Amino acid sequence: MGESSTEIRDRHAKSQRARNLIDYSAGESQSFLEACVAGHIRPELADAAYEQMQRLEFFDVFRYASPPAIELAARLAEITSGSLQRVHFTPGGSEAVETAIKIAKQYHMIVRGDKKRYKVITREGAYHGCTFGAMAVDGEYFGTQIHFYDPLPPFGRTSPPPYHYRCQHCANEDACNLTCIEDIEQVILREDPETIAAIAPPLTMGEEEIEHMIGIVDQALTIYEERYL
Ligand SMILES: Cc1ncc(COP(=O)(O)O)c(C=O)c1O
Repeated sequence: MGESSTEIRDRHAKSQRARNLIDYSAGESQSFLEACVAGHIRPELADAAYEQMQRLEFFDVFRYASPPAIELAARLAEITSGSLQRVHFTPGGSEAVETAIKIAKQYHMIVRGDKKRYKVITREGAYHGCTFGAMAVDGEYFGTQIHFYDPLPPFGRTSPPPYHYRCQHCANEDACNLTCIEDIEQVILREDPETIAAIAPPLTMGEEEIEHMIGIVDQALTIYEERYL
């Protein structure tokens, strides 16, 4: 058990025993993994939340839109590349992952009339959250402890991670040679393409650059859509 913190600001905390701690999960460098992406106790965020909570503090994101949600969706479409047409908010990351999987299954069933697709391919060592559905695509992230939770939902499948430092294809080369994309295709073929509902590789893993990871995901999805849908 860690020590409890008495004061916390930005990404620095003071423990009850007056030790100085750095919260690795808050602030710029490691922020992608946890909830405090902007650091702790940011007065401007507290003010904005207070102001919003006096007008509308919560509205069911699964059924309704609200002015702040519409504004945020428009902003996301503006700052993300591509042509984002729809945004669906969820209360947290694990729910986002499970919702995406549910949307993929509905898409195949309702739009394509295909009821056989249920498997979701992720990468070994990936983390997608700690609810049961998200753990099913966690890519053995929970490692040796996984037997505590068995049986997990049976739709997750893994392929080797795009992690240049330990990559079986290109660790001895200067840079990633993208062969790991073929690994995903091998899993699609091994599992029977007609059972694959989605590919859910994490965008942040190891030390790889986010643009590089997006490129890998993009190519894997193109192969899946062009050859196996
Ligand atoms: C890539 C990724 N997906 C999902 C999650 C789960 O998010 P949450 O803890 O909000 O359920 C995390 C959390 O760290 C994450 O890093």
